[in-house]
Amino acid sequence: MNAWQRGVVMGIVGFGIMVGGSLPAVARQHNPPVVQEPAWDSPVTRELVVRACYDCHSNETHWPWYAKTTPAAWLIVHDVEEGRRAVNFSEWNRYSEEGEELVEVVQEGEMPPWFYLPLHPSAQLSAAGQQQLLAGLASLGGGGEEDEDEHEDEHKEHDY
Ligand code: HEC
Repeated sequence: MNAWQRGVVMGIVGFGIMVGGSLPAVARQHNPPVVQEPAWDSPVTRELVVRACYDCHSNETHWPWYAKTTPAAWLIVHDVEEGRRAVNFSEWNRYSEEGEELVEVVQEGEMPPWFYLPLHPSAQLSAAGQQQLLAGLASLGGGGEEDEDEHEDEHKEHDY
């Protein structure tokens, strides 16, 4: 084989590893049904939260094409699974969070995570959008049910 042929073979092998290695993670990239959304104060709030948070905190995740490649597939699956467990706007009955807490993580710049914004320009809100998002999030009750959540999780462990 000359150098060019070796290059082609290595390219094919590399591509195979990239796609093949991501298959188990891709298999986990699914959107379960929407069970219960929070009581939004307005459709605008919902739209802003969809733009900024839904990819990781809902059952309506948009899986980008690069979610099928290694290692992005694994990183994205991890974020979505962890994100949905922390807060899930599609399963508010189980994974809710007090408005105050939601506002805090956004104000501190913790959420959305730093790497998400450059990849998702539509999640970048104007100053006015950001204000509206914070006001809308603040209006959400939710928390409070945390004790119940723990009970539910206990039940779940028994059930399985
Ligand atoms: C790229 C994925 C992603 C996006 C987008 C995202 N989050 Fe998160 N979020 C996570 C992950 C992963 C966790 C759990 C691990 C952690 O705490 O870092 C989390 C945790 C949280 C928590 C739990 C508190 C905490 O710090 O553990 C809150 C509240 C939260 N996110 C709110 C939001 C809000 C509000 C938005 C939209 C403005 C948002 N997130 C956007 C991935 C994301």
